[in-house]
Amino acid sequence: MFDYNQIIKFDRGKFIQIDVGLEPTFPIFFGYDIEDYFVETLERETRSHPVDRVFLLTDPFIFDLFGNPLLNKIKRRFPAMDINLLPRGETCKTFDVLQKLCDQLVGKGVSKRSLLIAFGGGSVGNITGLAAGLIFRGIRFIEVPTTITHQTDGMLSNKQAVNGKYGKNNFGLFHAPVFAWADTRYTETEPLRFKRSGIIEGVKNGLIDQKEFIPFLEGAVRKKGDYSSQQLTDLCFKLIRSKLEILKNDPTERHFGIILEYGHTFAHAIEWLSRGALTHGEAVSIGMKIAAELSFKLGYIDGKALGLHYRLIDDILALKPTLPEHLNPASIFKTMYVDNKKIGGDVRYVLLQRIGQCKKEHGEYLVHVDKKIVQRVIEDFFNQYCS
Ligand SMILES: NC(=O)c1ccc[n+]([C@@H]2O[C@H](COP(=O)([O-])OP(=O)(O)OC[C@H]3O[C@@H](n4cnc5c(N)ncnc54)[C@H](O)[C@@H]3O)[C@@H](O)[C@H]2O)c1
Repeated sequence: MFDYNQIIKFDRGKFIQIDVGLEPTFPIFFGYDIEDYFVETLERETRSHPVDRVFLLTDPFIFDLFGNPLLNKIKRRFPAMDINLLPRGETCKTFDVLQKLCDQLVGKGVSKRSLLIAFGGGSVGNITGLAAGLIFRGIRFIEVPTTITHQTDGMLSNKQAVNGKYGKNNFGLFHAPVFAWADTRYTETEPLRFKRSGIIEGVKNGLIDQKEFIPFLEGAVRKKGDYSSQQLTDLCFKLIRSKLEILKNDPTERHFGIILEYGHTFAHAIEWLSRGALTHGEAVSIGMKIAAELSFKLGYIDGKALGLHYRLIDDILALKPTLPEHLNPASIFKTMYVDNKKIGGDVRYVLLQRIGQCKKEHGEYLVHVDKKIVQRVIEDFFNQYCS
């Protein structure tokens, strides 16, 4: 059991190695303001299979914020390097962008010995990882995540995907990076709304399995996002740990690890239908509340456990987005039916049995619920949320 109350000192420029334990696995090099050590790590980690060309993939906004210093450091040791700018945020996760990117890379001479570097949030990470998985049936890539969401959640999955006509992450594959370079200095420039969105998955980890993490979060989360570098780095480290503690029991995320999808069936539909108005984390905050309401309605959890969701999300984290007007229960329900957890035409749900434990039915954590009950819970939730 990880001790979330231990105080870990992260000095500027010092980094630690975290082994994620996924299958396939990769190391994360983690710390605050550690960019000066990136290139030597890159050389060391690729020494057994030398790299012929490096392609840095990012978006124009991140490039303006942090691109040149990193680019120059890489260029000094890897002169054969190129940069590809992707559309910002979720808009880069399309087949169209993916195809253009892959063709562009091939046109520029990418080979089986080349390396892609995903420098950005989860969107840049997802499309770069997918391109790396597809080009010549798999070339190497590295994650350099710049958001809390991607450092502490997205990149800890090996899941790479783009969106389809009917929903989020409908097309993808599993592909692991050579390593991930998580420098929390990058996340300091994230707007408050994005920082909050990044922390929500940690709240989820506490609710579904790591209940010892909840008191830590209650003390460590700063409503206004005014973290010192030490506080932010400690928080990010523990957010990572909270997910790895769950993955330890099922790195494939197919059995026990599926509990990480708590609230996500609703969230993916809501995020998709919001057409960019909501962040992934904001949608997850709503999805988790609906999952909790459903768990309560079915008599699995009591009012106190339900109330804890609202306290953590609304009061501690202050993540209560306004819902876009065009969003309605019927469209959410319909969109859920193309979610990737659908099995044989039926949508199944990760639900809570009590704080720190998910409901298990017939040996599985994906629970069947009567459609009418789900519909009713979504409708009631909306009436209450929007009133
Ligand atoms: N594979 C997984 O298991 C998994 C898990 C969680 C999320 N995701 C995916 O990740 C995506 C969301 O990723 P995200 O939340 O990291 O956001 P994002 O990558 O979509 O980026 C959002 C915005 O933040 C900006 N940005 C990035 N870093 C910044 C920084 N340091 N300072 C200021 N602005 C910055 C970007 O330019 C962009 O405009 C979604 O597509 C989601 O599906 C995947």
